[in-house]
Amino acid sequence: MHEKSVLDPDRIPRHVAIIMDGNGRWAKQRSLPRIMGHKAGTETVKNIVRTARELNLEVLTLYAFSTENWKRPSLEVQGLMTLLKSYLKSQLQDMLENNISLRCSGEIEKLPADVRKILLEVIQETAGNAEEDQSMILNLALSYGGRSEIVRAARIMAEKCLSGRFGPEDFSENLFASHLYTAGLPDPDLLIRTGGESRLSNFLLWQLSYAELYITETMWPDFSPERFIEALVDFQSRERRFGRTSEQLQAE
Ligand code: IPE
Ligand code: IPE
Ligand code: MG
Repeated sequence: MHEKSVLDPDRIPRHVAIIMDGNGRWAKQRSLPRIMGHKAGTETVKNIVRTARELNLEVLTLYAFSTENWKRPSLEVQGLMTLLKSYLKSQLQDMLENNISLRCSGEIEKLPADVRKILLEVIQETAGNAEEDQSMILNLALSYGGRSEIVRAARIMAEKCLSGRFGPEDFSENLFASHLYTAGLPDPDLLIRTGGESRLSNFLLWQLSYAELYITETMWPDFSPERFIEALVDFQSRERRFGRTSEQLQAE
């Protein structure tokens, strides 16, 4: 069991991204329908958002639904959309009270109209929170795919080139990043994946280039604030060299 006090408050990651995986297996282990796993997972989302806020993270990005997840059985997709809608409805007040500003990454035009409506409402209502000094951005990746995000950015930039806003010579990493869904956000320092799989599943392909990776066997519904703090403790033990040598870092 880890307490928050085991963390170095000066080395809290600015941005943590999480692949919330394992809801289905969690349910199966209990002979429950998959959707019950997703329902339990929603409670984990609430706990982890609260903990992230208490720890003063700047950004928490949660992979809630991938472009590939549209291929799941339609009943499961519908169930997930219903859970998403009720999550957003029930958390608006909490976000306002705790200075949490909602953003999203993904092809939200593909979401059912009622889900998109409440999503946009919560984003709009909590937008002012981002102006506050002590606030957190909760970025939900919804109908999100890393490759399609990159292609979309390239398309927007090509259109701007054609209309003369800038030319190919102006292309830079910063300009490219400013055309991604995550424009303006720092890159994730830490990627957590629950459920034990060692893959990215098309998540934040550009943004994760130097993130520390933390994979845990714990299924998402069982991922507690204690487990989250364990991941952060592990992160704080890493030496982030960004290509340089250990000696160079120590000399600084
Ligand atoms: C993650 O849990 C939630 C979503 C992808 C929406 P899964 O539903 O993928 O759970 P497993 O991987 O089947 O256990
Ligand atoms: C990744 O989980 C997507 C989300 C957590 C939303 P999946 O369960 O969809 O990933 P794969 O299919 O095992 O790669
Ligand atoms: Mg899965």
